[in-house]
Amino acid sequence: MRRVLTAAIAALTVTTAGTVVTGTPGQAADRPGRSRQIPVAAPAPGSPGLGDSYFPTYGNGGYDVDHYDVRLRYDPASDRLTGTTTILARATQDLSRFNLDFLLDVESVRVNGWAARFAREGSHELAVTAPRGITRGQALTIVVTYAGVPSETLLDGYTGWTRTADGALAVNEPESAWWWFPANDHPLDKATFDISVSVPAGVEVVSNGVQPRPALAEPGNRVRWSWRTTTPTATYLAFLAIGQYDLVADTAPNGQPVVNAYSTTLGELAPAARASIERTAEIVDWASGVFGPYPFEAQGGLAGPVDGIGFALETQTRPVYGPGFWRRGSNPYVVVHEQAHQWFGNSVSVAQWRDIWLNEGLATYAEWLWSEEQGEGTAQELFDFTYAAYPENSGFWQVLPGDPGADRIFHDAVYDRGAMAVHQLRLAVGDEAFFALLPAWTAAHRHGNATVAQFHASAERISGLDLDDLFTTWLFTAGRPALPTAAARAALAPHQPKSWAKIREAHQVRQR
Ligand code: TRP
Ligand code: ZN
Repeated sequence: MRRVLTAAIAALTVTTAGTVVTGTPGQAADRPGRSRQIPVAAPAPGSPGLGDSYFPTYGNGGYDVDHYDVRLRYDPASDRLTGTTTILARATQDLSRFNLDFLLDVESVRVNGWAARFAREGSHELAVTAPRGITRGQALTIVVTYAGVPSETLLDGYTGWTRTADGALAVNEPESAWWWFPANDHPLDKATFDISVSVPAGVEVVSNGVQPRPALAEPGNRVRWSWRTTTPTATYLAFLAIGQYDLVADTAPNGQPVVNAYSTTLGELAPAARASIERTAEIVDWASGVFGPYPFEAQGGLAGPVDGIGFALETQTRPVYGPGFWRRGSNPYVVVHEQAHQWFGNSVSVAQWRDIWLNEGLATYAEWLWSEEQGEGTAQELFDFTYAAYPENSGFWQVLPGDPGADRIFHDAVYDRGAMAVHQLRLAVGDEAFFALLPAWTAAHRHGNATVAQFHASAERISGLDLDDLFTTWLFTAGRPALPTAAARAALAPHQPKSWAKIREAHQVRQR
């Protein structure tokens, strides 16, 4: 991005009289009578990507989004989605054109009221030509109207949109927005959201945050649902669930609104889904004691339909759970995992997708902490069990949690070896430092982005220890690491383990 800008400065200068002259600054300055030229940036195209090492074309340069207003109309019978998304953004350079990431058919684009030309480029880029020059720092209102059938909008045979018997789910990672709203689709550009969807009366729509107004009747026997997120949200953490849902509202211990939603299709899985998701506010309260204050404005969870997704996703304020998690009865662990992501992933987001261990390693370790606190097995027991579960010659040990590769960001190694790495860190620094590090980390990068290297540095700062070997061994070296001997372990851990009762007590004191 910076390189493009420098090239643009080199290519164009403006005289003090305002005459635009093209040429390199060197040539221009050599011309008689042109020595007082002030070089300024010419409008240049925004970069088609944000330089993510795994996904170079995800996100776009040249502007930064503050808010998405996503106004949709959806019909479950046809899976047809029409919409208008209004993007409030600010230019970060003089722009001649810029890209959005999007796949549906675009009807029109306006920038600050002016109709703009647009073209599809690459696999998922919508290139918009600025109708008037855009200068650095300028506020942009980008209005895109569009339509499509998202389940039939395939990229290499794939869609991140899940059509179900009664509606749809826009829930996916890392690509999700492409099928329902044009975006600067990378965690580096967080924004707030207003999401409203008109559906036939009798259909429910659930999304992030709070309902600023109740679902309102519209002509044609339709109803429009509105949801609002007022804290910065990465684009992959915005979601839509459309179908037959029971909504259950409550108030959390910290006073926040809770909305849980249960698909009516779950049948015999429904009790286990409810018994798990109904513990959300309790789990958020517990997690706040370990990770620091809950970073968002609402809480909840959504149990997706039987014919929906085969995973869970930590969609902001309201994770979505596939039906598979309820097949063996209630499952607070998946709730703990997705809620831990509200701190690790959602508030503190990856700077690049390569940093995915910051999300999955820590969210998986949160499950081990919950187990320990509940008396269902200590983190050490879970470590020993997990370490033994993968034989030394397993391919599992060949994937590096700290740099798994673009096609392996959700490999078991990122989760399980990732959690083992966190446990080794805890043993190395001791419980005192470890349980100081977690809230310090979430506070330092709240609503921001961070890297594995920054986590490593924070752990060293708080513990006063050199942790290069530990991070290199557990996150960046292929092969099953040898375990420290009991003696080495004792020498490494200078502090007495803090008890869970004490952690809870400290939290209660903070809350008063
Ligand atoms: N981040 C999700 C979690 O750990 C899981 C996940 C893995 C996922 N692969 C995915 C979500 C693909 C959506 C799509 O909870
Ligand atoms: Zn996860």
